[in-house]
This record gives sequence, C-alpha cells and structure tokens, in this order.
Amino acid sequence: MTSQIETQPDYNYAVVRQFTVMTIIWGIVGMGVGVLIAAQLIWPALNFDTPWLTYSRLRPLHTNAVIFAFGTCALMATSFYVVQRTCQTKLFGGPLAQVVFWGWQLVILSAAITLPLGYTTSKEYAELEWPIDILIAVVWVIYAIVFFGTIVKRKTSHIYVANWFFGGFIITVAVLHIVNSAAVPVAMMKSYSVYAGAVDAMVQWWYGHNAVGFLLTAGFLGMMYYFVPKQAGRPVYSYRLSIVHFWALTSVYIWAGPHHLHYTALPDWAQSLGMVMSLILFAPSWGGMINGIMTLSGAWHKLRYDPILRFLIVSLSFYGMSTFEGPMMAIKTVNALSHYTDWTVGHVHSGALGWVAMVSIGAVYHLIPNLFGQGAMYSTRLINVHFWLATVGTVLYIVAMWISGVMQGLMWRAVNSDGTLTYSFVESLQASYPFYFVRFLGGAIFLTGMLIMAYNAYKTIVAPKGSLQPEVQEA
Ligand code: HEM
Ligand code: HEM
Repeated sequence: MTSQIETQPDYNYAVVRQFTVMTIIWGIVGMGVGVLIAAQLIWPALNFDTPWLTYSRLRPLHTNAVIFAFGTCALMATSFYVVQRTCQTKLFGGPLAQVVFWGWQLVILSAAITLPLGYTTSKEYAELEWPIDILIAVVWVIYAIVFFGTIVKRKTSHIYVANWFFGGFIITVAVLHIVNSAAVPVAMMKSYSVYAGAVDAMVQWWYGHNAVGFLLTAGFLGMMYYFVPKQAGRPVYSYRLSIVHFWALTSVYIWAGPHHLHYTALPDWAQSLGMVMSLILFAPSWGGMINGIMTLSGAWHKLRYDPILRFLIVSLSFYGMSTFEGPMMAIKTVNALSHYTDWTVGHVHSGALGWVAMVSIGAVYHLIPNLFGQGAMYSTRLINVHFWLATVGTVLYIVAMWISGVMQGLMWRAVNSDGTLTYSFVESLQASYPFYFVRFLGGAIFLTGMLIMAYNAYKTIVAPKGSLQPEVQEA
C-alpha cells in the first residue's frame, strides 16, 4: 500500500495527525492511572498519604482520561479523517479544526488538574465543574460545525454510514452534556445541579447510559464501519443492515438509562421500561456486530498475517460479548446480584478494553502510516506482540472481575438459618484480593502493549518518508 498523502493533498491531515498522536499519549496516561488505582485497591499505602493521590480522586481521573482524553481523541481523529475521505472534500471551517484540537486538550488539562485537587460535581462521568463544562460545550459545538459543515459541502451524493454514526454521536453527546450539566454556580469551582432527588438521578443516568451508547458505542461503530472494510479490503457485508443498525440503535438506546437505577426511588414503571428497552437493544447490537464480522467474508485468510485486522475483529467479538452481558444485567433479578459488585466493573472493561480500546488501536495502526507518508508501520511483529498483550490483558481483567463480582454478590446475600448474614462485608473484601491482583496484572499487561505501540509509532513517524513498506505481502 502506498501513502495516500501525495495523492490527496487537499485534505486537512494535520489535525488528524495531532489527534492520533494524542490518542496514544492519553491512552498511556489514562491506563497508567488505571493500573495505579488497581494497585491501590490491593496496596492502599500507594496513595502515599497524599490527598491528591487518593483513590477517590484518581478514580474519576482514570475514567475521564480514558473516556474523554484517549477515547474522544481517537473519535475526533477518525471522524475528521473519515468525513474527509468519504465526502471527498477538505474539512470545513479552516482554522476551526485547530480550535477543536487545542480546545479539547485544554479541557483534558483542566480535568487532569482539578480532579486530583478534589473539585468535583460528584456526578459520575460528569464530574467536571461548571467553567470546564462551558468550555466543553463551546468546543463540542465547534466540533459539530466542522463535522457537519464538511458533510454539507461534500462532493459525493451519498453520506457513507460511518458518518451517520459519527453524526449521531456528536449531536447526542452535545444534548446529553448540556442538559445534564445544567447547574447553579455558587463559587468559581462549586455548583449545584438544577435537578433534585430522583429526577437528578434519572437525568444523570440518562446521560451516563447514553454516554456509553453514543460515545463509547455509536462513535466507535462509526470507526468500525470505515476501518474494518478498509483493512479487510472488502465492502461492508450488508449496507442495508448497517442503516437498520443505525436507526434501531439510536431509537432504542436513549430509553435504557433506568437500568442503572434498579431498586431505587425511581418509579417502578420507569425501571421496567429501562429493562425492556435494554433487552430489545440486544438485537441491533448483535446485528451490527455480525455485519462487521461478516465483512471479512472472503478475506478470513487475512487474519493469519494482519494483526491490525485481528485487533478490529477481536474488538467486535468483545462488543458482542458486552452487549449480550449488558441486557442480561439489565434484568432486575440479575441486577439484584450484579449491582454494586465487581461484575459491573468486569462488564465495563469488556466494553472499554475489549471493544473501545481495541477498535481504536486497530484504527490508529491503520492511520499512522497513511498520515505520516509510510506504506506500513515500522514493525508488524510488534503490532502482533501488542495484539496478544492486549487480548491476554483484557481476558485476565474481565475474568477476574466476573468471578470476584459473582462471589461478592453471593456472599452478600447468604443468610444463616436464623436470618443473620453468613459473611461480613470485610470477609467478602478479603476474598476479593486475589482477583484484584489478577486485574492489576491484566491491566499492567495491557499497558505494556500500549508502550510498545508508542515505540512502534515513534519509529514509524521518524523514519524517512516512504521508507517503510509492508513486511508480509498478500498470498
Ligand atoms: C446492549 C448494550 C448494553 C446494555 C443493555 C448494558 C447494560 C448495562 C447494565 C445493566 C449495567 C449495570 C448497571 C448497574 O447495575 O449499575 C451496565 C453498566 C455499565 N456499562 Fe453497559 N450495557 C451495554 C453495553 C455496554 C458497552 C458496549 C459498554 C462500553 C463500551 C458499556 C459500559 C458500561 C459502563 C461504563 C457501565 C457502568 C456504569 C456505572 O455504574 O458507572 N456497556 N451496562
Ligand atoms: C490498563 C487498563 C485499565 C485498568 C488497569 C483499569 C482499571 C480500573 C479500575 C481499578 C477501576 C475502578 C474499579 C472500581 O472502582 O472497583 C476502573 C474503573 C473504570 N474504568 Fe478502567 N481500567 C483500564 C482501562 C480502561 C479503559 C480503556 C476504559 C474506557 C475506555 C476504562 C473505563 C473505566 C470506567 C468507565 C470505570 C468505572 C466503572 C464503574 O463505575 O463501574 N478503563 N478502571
């Protein structure tokens, strides 16, 4: 494969390059903090008696860094790349793309400073205080202007399906963020939500769940619908199914939020509605997963020598796994066991590491040679090593959390014949330690893979242009 850069000089690749490099850097930072907090759960002394290194402050730093720094930089890089390529036109708005890049890095930096200092709204995944929320809203609207402006001035008649997913993600995240962040400021870094009680909880999980549905799912599906066919060299298995997938996913996801609030003060009908919508969600999710995997029809042999394709296809398998597990956990009786336990954390990371991180890594490996004037990455062997480290790391992490979670749930509900609890909470915690160690190990292995990726990317970027060509040719 030769570089695309000389043949399409009109595209704005500078901003794609910036976001791609930052994806790797923020991935290492976010996962590094993940490994640190995983270690703190085994060895609490690792907070060094320092307030800004305590678990309570570093945990939101981890979630914000992986979702909004690593994940969102990957989404911004790929959406800007894909929208230009599929619309055959340069990004709309000239310097606005740079405003998006620098504005978003400022958001990340503000989060990285304020969260360890203890400033938080205490709403999960929406912890940042009001001045940063306003900055996010402004940058996001500019992002939308650049993306949709490019769609409007496209040179193709058709809007490729990946752009529908990216577009859905951009619009919905804007609406979610603005509605859920509505707050009354009382000081420079302190505000109170405009919602109260159960309504506040409902709005929060409408936001939280759809952040999963539209940021961690729809956006990455946009990525999948471009990079899987590209890397496999095959058209999407069923284009019609991809359109059904988009509309079904978009119309169902938005109702499923109450499954985060089972057995709470939320009205029972709302909980049941959330449960039913979650069960229905299984169908479009698997439709999309099958559509992605079947795109390999006639190209399965490529999996033997193409580790980038392996990343993309294994990510789809994890997507299938987590979207089977999610609807199951949304059933109220199952949730009675899983809620508050490590099972939830296992589910989260089968989606986060297995799906979100793996599909992003695959896309970044595809992008880097194209963006930096090379025919291939510096080392295919190192991509392969990364693939195995990522797979083994993810499996260790999620299996440990599944076992630990189900064990915790069963220990908490065990009662003696006289009605007293069989186990104290501390006993369940002690029983969890071995699994916390396995999780730490899995995370450290995954992080090692990311460091190898950074090395491989660096060597690709600094190599003389055009000097790297594919090591293995198609048989
Ligand atoms: C059909 C799709 C899915 C359904 C129906 C679903 C359902 C659920 C349920 C029932 C919970 C547990 C709620 C609780 O007990 O508190 C949960 C938690 C979670 N899921 Fe999913 N899930 C799905 C897919 C995914 C995917 C693909 C990801 C990630 C990429 C993901 C990320 C999360 C996160 C981050 C949480 C934890 C939220 C929190 O409590 O902080 N889910 N999901
Ligand atoms: C090296 C990789 C990683 C490690 C070691 C790691 C570790 C952790 C740990 C220890 C927690 C806290 C669990 C608890 O409170 O019991 C956590 C939470 C979380 N992590 Fe990660 N993580 C990693 C990668 C990621 C990635 C790539 C994402 C997203 C793309 C992610 C998203 C989350 C989320 C959403 C939560 C909150 C879960 C909940 O509230 O149920 N993590 N992580």
